[in-house]
Amino acid sequence: MARRPFIAGNWKMNLGPAAAGELASSLKSALMDETGVDILVAPTALAIPSVVDKLRHTGLLVGAQDLHPANNGAYTSQVSGPMFREAGCTHVLVGHSERRSLFGDDDEVVNEKVQASFSSGLLPILCVGETLSQREAGQAESVVAAQLHAGLAGLAPDQVVSTTIAYEPVWAIGTGVTASPDQAQEMHAFIRSVLASTYPSFVAAQTRIQYGGSVKPSNAAELLAQPDIDGALVGGAALTVESFVAIVRAGS
Ligand code: PGA
Repeated sequence: MARRPFIAGNWKMNLGPAAAGELASSLKSALMDETGVDILVAPTALAIPSVVDKLRHTGLLVGAQDLHPANNGAYTSQVSGPMFREAGCTHVLVGHSERRSLFGDDDEVVNEKVQASFSSGLLPILCVGETLSQREAGQAESVVAAQLHAGLAGLAPDQVVSTTIAYEPVWAIGTGVTASPDQAQEMHAFIRSVLASTYPSFVAAQTRIQYGGSVKPSNAAELLAQPDIDGALVGGAALTVESFVAIVRAGS
């Protein structure tokens, strides 16, 4: 079964409700007839209702950027999976490198969040990736394998298939430096081999693996043409309609 391309935009802490709603309206006009690709945007939590409202009945999906593992309780400032689900989200990013490096999300917390995604009816996009010093020390594959094993621990094979893996080398995020198509393909093939050695064979065949890290219109087509790259997780270039639409079209 062919893997359907999946392009996601991570808006990070940009665009409040009004600006996010405007971008969503423009994306709706430009993309609602794109049927060959799954498209998702992940606005800041506060802007989710406005974006969900604009994208209703379009097929464009809305995701959260993070979730708290508990359903509710005394966790000041946090938002839970059931709350995002109720607001209209279908997916949630888990383990983004900014969460790992700035907010202390370790592999154990990442796994709790992956489990919490499924129990609240959200599909996780599990982000993995090595830092520059880990790559230079020859540890890229071992770091990514460890993040995968820990992040996916305890999931049933059909849950792993419903998880999207986003390979985002930390050195490529927001830096303008992209992994070359060959470097990215090599790691994606490695990720698929880890899935193949851990789960029944349909899991490696069907699980989608996105590439993220300075994806832009000028490099998207070449990255997305690689056999094991099934989509993109886009940060900066997801903030303007022209560049995000160009990336989606490169993937469709
Ligand atoms: P970038 O961010 O496209 O701005 O490098 C990617 C990400 O953090 O998901």
